[in-house]
Amino acid sequence: MKDVLKELERRREIARMGGGKDRIEAQHKKGKLTARERIEVFLDEGSFEEFDMYVEHRSTDFGMEKTKIAGDGVVTGWGTVNGRPVYIFAKDFTVFGGSLSEAHAEKVIKVQEMALRNRAPIIGLYDAGGARIQEGVAALGGYAEIFQRNVLASGVIPQISLIMGPCAGGDVYSPAMTDFIFMVRDTSYMFVTGPDVVKTVTNETVTAESLGGASVHTTKSSIADGAYDNDVEALLQMRRLVDLLPASNTAEIPEIECYQSVTDHDLSLDRLIPDNANKPYDIKELILKVADEGDFFEIQQSFARNIVTGFGRVEGRTVGFVANQPMVLAGVLDSDASRKAARFVRFCDCFSIPIVTFVDVPGFLPGTAQEYGGLIKHGAKLLFAYAEATVPKITVITRKAYGGAY
Ligand code: HXC
Repeated sequence: MKDVLKELERRREIARMGGGKDRIEAQHKKGKLTARERIEVFLDEGSFEEFDMYVEHRSTDFGMEKTKIAGDGVVTGWGTVNGRPVYIFAKDFTVFGGSLSEAHAEKVIKVQEMALRNRAPIIGLYDAGGARIQEGVAALGGYAEIFQRNVLASGVIPQISLIMGPCAGGDVYSPAMTDFIFMVRDTSYMFVTGPDVVKTVTNETVTAESLGGASVHTTKSSIADGAYDNDVEALLQMRRLVDLLPASNTAEIPEIECYQSVTDHDLSLDRLIPDNANKPYDIKELILKVADEGDFFEIQQSFARNIVTGFGRVEGRTVGFVANQPMVLAGVLDSDASRKAARFVRFCDCFSIPIVTFVDVPGFLPGTAQEYGGLIKHGAKLLFAYAEATVPKITVITRKAYGGAY
């Protein structure tokens, strides 16, 4: 028995080393943590239970039978965040660039199914080169199975994606089907086809950063809901987000002790709205005063800044805040703001999170650019989302609500 345990520990040690010392060092040199280090930062200490640590690919093409690495490029399992269960998979860039083989896909699918069955959130940490080129359609089939499970879990359990390195090819679509995508500045990028293919097909010259870096996806494309400066900060912020969310669409909203009195008046709010109706003010000040302890987790902070969306707590329980921002474009509603808020409202509705809306809006933005860009349909998405939502909705008109925006 002792020998068996010794052999097991030896194999574990090899699996923990992933693609080996040199590739781990290269990962660190780029300012990135390894898959296992990331999981350690994200989960409560010592809570990680790993699955399928010894799984290897089954490919025999292109001499692949000679290069097998335990784990096959993804670390999967479950653990806890402040005591609450969470399922996780983390792409291991040190093993075949984290690329997705058939066996790798099976590991991801297994945690997706366990998360759904046990009604717990799932988080994916991405740092990979897409489909394993050597496996061809076997890998592509793996993606299809993953997408299917993303769809089945949508609206049932929270699904979060954190992009911490390259995320290319097939790897971009699964995050896009999840509820939230966050990125790490300077080390992560997301695109369907990289700069070389872009150059060949369209003759455009772009860098990875200007094609799909965090600044592009948080300000222009709105693919990402936020970005952080490094791996550790991003992972700690994900813990904060998970803390705010219910485990599933049928679970209670998490409640924490609230030490703030709800009956105290905050006299500073009397001076927030300027006497001059044309003068702007920062609506975030109001949100920070209303949320317990001024703790506000903003979603899409850098995109469509004329509307503010995010989570906070009131008397210890999570609420979603939606607010027009008079500081940006006078808080007008345009296509981008409508889409941003509509998606947020729908998420809150799915997960029974009450919505508090602060309104100070001059109306929908007029002009050909908006009409040609589909303002009618995008605006309707927001109206649809509010009308459809069956969660408690509280609206406070802080100054004005004109026209269609009323
Ligand atoms: C197999 C891969 C791989 C892949 C990287 N590697 N991507 N192996 N399949 N897709 C391997 C490399 O061979 C290398 O192995 C190691 O991972 C590290 O890669 P490097 O290129 O040395 O790293 P870096 O310079 O940082 O570049 C990272 C990268 C680049 C930008 C991701 O590797 C790259 O462009 N990869 C290919 C990306 C791609 O075309 N993916 C699309 C697949 S098709 P060694 O042994 O040298 O360390 C697809 C479509 C699916 O996904 C559609 C579904 C709907």
